[in-house]
Amino acid sequence: MNDPIRLPASDYSRLGPIGQLMSNPRVTEIMVMGGQDIYVEVDGKILLTPIRFSSEDELMTVIRYIVESVGRRVDAANPLTDARLADGSRVHIAVRPVAVDGPLLNIRKFVRGPLNMEDLVRLGSCSESAFGFLKACVLSRANIVVSGGTGSGKTTLLNVLSGYLPEDERIVTIEDAAELQLRQRHVARLEARPGGPDGKEVTIRDLVISSLRMRPDRLVVGEVRGAEALDMLQAMNTGHDGSMTTLHANKPRDALARIETLVLMSGYDLPLRAIRSQITSAINVIVHLERLRDGSRKVVQISEVTGMEEDVITMQDVFRFIRVGMDDHGRVTGRFVAAGLRPRVLDRLEELGLEIPAEILPLFHESVSTAQ
Ligand SMILES: Nc1ncnc2c1ncn2[C@@H]1O[C@H](COP(=O)(O)OP(=O)(O)OP(=O)(O)O)[C@@H](O)[C@H]1O
Ligand SMILES: [Mg+2]
Repeated sequence: MNDPIRLPASDYSRLGPIGQLMSNPRVTEIMVMGGQDIYVEVDGKILLTPIRFSSEDELMTVIRYIVESVGRRVDAANPLTDARLADGSRVHIAVRPVAVDGPLLNIRKFVRGPLNMEDLVRLGSCSESAFGFLKACVLSRANIVVSGGTGSGKTTLLNVLSGYLPEDERIVTIEDAAELQLRQRHVARLEARPGGPDGKEVTIRDLVISSLRMRPDRLVVGEVRGAEALDMLQAMNTGHDGSMTTLHANKPRDALARIETLVLMSGYDLPLRAIRSQITSAINVIVHLERLRDGSRKVVQISEVTGMEEDVITMQDVFRFIRVGMDDHGRVTGRFVAAGLRPRVLDRLEELGLEIPAEILPLFHESVSTAQ
């Protein structure tokens, strides 16, 4: 997207009243409303703060500072812009006239490095055995789509899943704003950029197409939300298996429908059945996340795409989060349960001569031994 602004990560002194929110580690997101209210997200919940800018002018000064530090402009002619702070925080800005009641400033804070698998298990977002299954998916080169609503934890989970990619493979990452933090050494990172006075637009689709000439073993695409869906499906179907991406959808089924829509919108006149059969052969696993009412983020469903019946894509659940109720602290309680059917990914593992991860052996043990 753009170069991070050059200021030490801990220097928030030029951010006005939001400097103190930037320094507060409990705050994960800051939402400034037209120089008036400032909301924050703490523990997954949105709270109104007593903090305010003294005027819209003061807010605009901070916004201009952020935007100009990354060499961009924001004004009535360019009312929408993205930026990233030196500490990795992601900024999105909308000013008048599109922001009707005054400038909107959103900062998704980069808190303490991404959450890892242990964090997610501790937070109750996913079980160890479900992670064992996902690890098996990555190792067996299944193509994975992480779906969920806004802020449900898709990028965080994609980052954790990317952690299972083997060290000896060439990974290419493609993102709108570089958020992923892979620990592997051999990673080629690509970031899209908007068009402007300093050059032409480079879209996610451009980068997907260009990445295929870079001999990737695995493609990790931060989010699919446009015409790149078709290129991504084709890549997944033509030797770049073991790739992953995220997608905005409210249910796993909707994820498939959304891919269909994106492909249809990409301008190719493909029959629906052809699109569905591409989807079926490209995508193996859908991991669906939700942000629940109590503010927690959970993997609520993991499903495998199993094939097509007539014109309908068929799926099979592997894991589900079953809600039980609420505890005394108002937190959602429940269990992650394995659906019991032998996941197809285990066949892929066997074909590749890889071992079934220890975490899932007990779950699918019977079906594993009867299949041998
Ligand atoms: N399992 C989790 N438990 C608690 N907090 C989480 C969890 N996953 C992610 N978060 C936090 O939630 C916020 C949003 O996470 P993330 O960016 O991964 O979501 P997203 O679905 O990719 O969002 P977007 O829709 O904006 O792309 C971040 O602050 C992240 O640290
Ligand atoms: Mg994301």
